[in-house]
Amino acid sequence: MVLLGEKFPNFDTNTNVGKINFHEWLGNSWGILFSHPNDFTPVCTTELARVVKLMPDFQRLGVKPIALSCNSVDSHIEWIKDIKSYAGVSIDGFPYPIIEDESRKIATSLGMLDPDETDKDGLPAAARAVFIIDPKKKMRLSILYPATTGRNFDEIIRVIESLQLTEQHKVATPVDWKKGDDVMVQPTVSDEEAQKTYADKLKTIKLPSGKGYLRMVPHPCDLSSTM
Ligand code: BEZ
Repeated sequence: MVLLGEKFPNFDTNTNVGKINFHEWLGNSWGILFSHPNDFTPVCTTELARVVKLMPDFQRLGVKPIALSCNSVDSHIEWIKDIKSYAGVSIDGFPYPIIEDESRKIATSLGMLDPDETDKDGLPAAARAVFIIDPKKKMRLSILYPATTGRNFDEIIRVIESLQLTEQHKVATPVDWKKGDDVMVQPTVSDEEAQKTYADKLKTIKLPSGKGYLRMVPHPCDLSSTM
């Protein structure tokens, strides 16, 4: 089981586009590894199709998606035809790899298994894990959904935008934040530094405690180039 901030493990694996070494495949990009219980299942098909359609967003953010499903490469290659049909795209090939994991070796080592879900042979199936990995191969986000709940990929894009923004600026993103909304100065930044950096753009919200910890500033793209 990998924890936030830890180095994401490397592994050699087989995919619909051949053998890969995970870290070499990632190169210097961000990555998102997301797992699936089984090929030819309804929720999984809708998720993989959604990722096909979101490829321009992943490319804009410099993120390489890779899926894992507990079936063979031959099965993945057949399933891809259904995924492309459901996505309504007529592209050559497939825009991201799907890892084969019939033995559940990778799913087990990464803590992706859902003990409540078994396949037709009684083998445990992978849950819907999402791991976001940064260019230094550190794990930056981990979410585990049960097999019966499809993921919200708008949320995943939103988290990547927040992670990339907070890499660049000493800010944090509040509840339900969307790209372009105001952000908050991180608690580790002193009032003096916040005032120096943001000047009249800094708005401190008054609270009953009298503590001025809720400090809002515009999204950094909207601030002057002095930042
Ligand atoms: C699905 O992808 O639809 C699914 C897979 C396993 C359990 C439940 C749903």
